[in-house]
Amino acid sequence: LNKVYKLNTGATIPAIGLGTWQAPAGEVETAIKTAIAAGYRHIDTAFGYNNEVEVGKAIREALAENGLERKDIFVTTKLWPTFFRPEKVAEGFQISYDRLDIEYIDLILLHWPVALSPEQGPVGIPRKADGTRDVETSVTPSITWAALEKLYESNKDKLKAIGVSNYSIPIFEDLLKTAKIVPAVNQVELHPYNPQQKLLDYCESKGIHVTAYSPLGSTNSTLLGDETISKIASAHDKTPAQIILSWGWSRSSILPKSVKIERVKANADLIELSAQEIQQINELHKTHGKRFITPDWGVPVFDEDFE
Ligand code: A2P
Repeated sequence: LNKVYKLNTGATIPAIGLGTWQAPAGEVETAIKTAIAAGYRHIDTAFGYNNEVEVGKAIREALAENGLERKDIFVTTKLWPTFFRPEKVAEGFQISYDRLDIEYIDLILLHWPVALSPEQGPVGIPRKADGTRDVETSVTPSITWAALEKLYESNKDKLKAIGVSNYSIPIFEDLLKTAKIVPAVNQVELHPYNPQQKLLDYCESKGIHVTAYSPLGSTNSTLLGDETISKIASAHDKTPAQIILSWGWSRSSILPKSVKIERVKANADLIELSAQEIQQINELHKTHGKRFITPDWGVPVFDEDFE
C-alpha cells in the first residue's frame, strides 16, 4: 500500500486509489472511510460523478479519525467537458474546489478529449433536438489545456498538478505541439482485456504517468470470470479481482472502485506475480480484447486497438 509512482511535477501518486464513479452519495462515504482506514492514500472523483461534496466530507472526517494530515492523501478530480471553453475553466475548477473543501486539489484532469456546449446543462452527454451530440469541435483539447495551464500557474496553492483523461496517442500528438506544461497524468481504462501497452510506452516516453480506471473491467465485468485469471487466483489462494489488480499496479497506478467494505479492503491486498504469470495475463487481450467504457460522444475518441 505504500507503493507510489513519481509524477513529472516531482510529487508522488499512490499506486492504489479508490475509484468513486457510480459510488453514490450515501454509499461513497463509508467506502472512503474504509479505504483510508485500510491504508489507501488516493481518492479519485470527478465533477461528473456528482459526489464531490460527500467525497470531500468523508475525506476530511477520515483524516481526522485516523490522525492523518491533508498532505497524507492524494485527491484527484476532473473537469467536465461543459467547462472546456477557456472562459469556463476557472469556474469549473472553483466548483470542484468548493465542493471538495479539502484545502487543495492534488490533480485535476480534463475528463474527456471532447468539449460540450455549456448551454446543455452541467452533466451527462446531452443530445441536441436533432438527436446529435452537442459537441463543440471548435474547442480543441489544446485550447482548453492552455486555459488550464494558466489556472494552474496562478493557483499553485489550490492545485498541485494538471492532467488529462481518455487521451489516445493521436490526441496527445496534437496537444503536445502547443502545450507548455506536459500533462502529469493520463487516466484511461486499463485492464488485462485492454492493456494499451503502446499508449503506456508512449506516455512513459513523454514523462506522463498513466492511471488505470476500471482496472477490474467496471460493472458486470467478464474479466472476473476469466479462466486464466481464475487459475492463477487459485494457485495463490487469492480472488480473481486481486490477481487482476496485482497485475495492474505493477504497470500503472490503479483505481479499483467498490462500495463494499470487504472488497475495498481485499482490493488493496495484492501480491507480486511471477514473470510467467504476468506474461500469461499479457496475452489475454489477443483473444478477449474489450473496452468496457465506450460512451457515445458522436465523435471518435479512442484508438480501436487493444495492444
Ligand atoms: P461494488 O462497488 O458493488 O463492489 P472497476 O474498478 O473496474 O470500475 O470495477 C468496479 C466494479 O467491480 C463495481 O461494479 C464493483 O462493485 C465491482 N467490484 C469491486 N471490487 C470487486 C471485487 N473484489 N470482486 C468483485 N467485484 C468487485
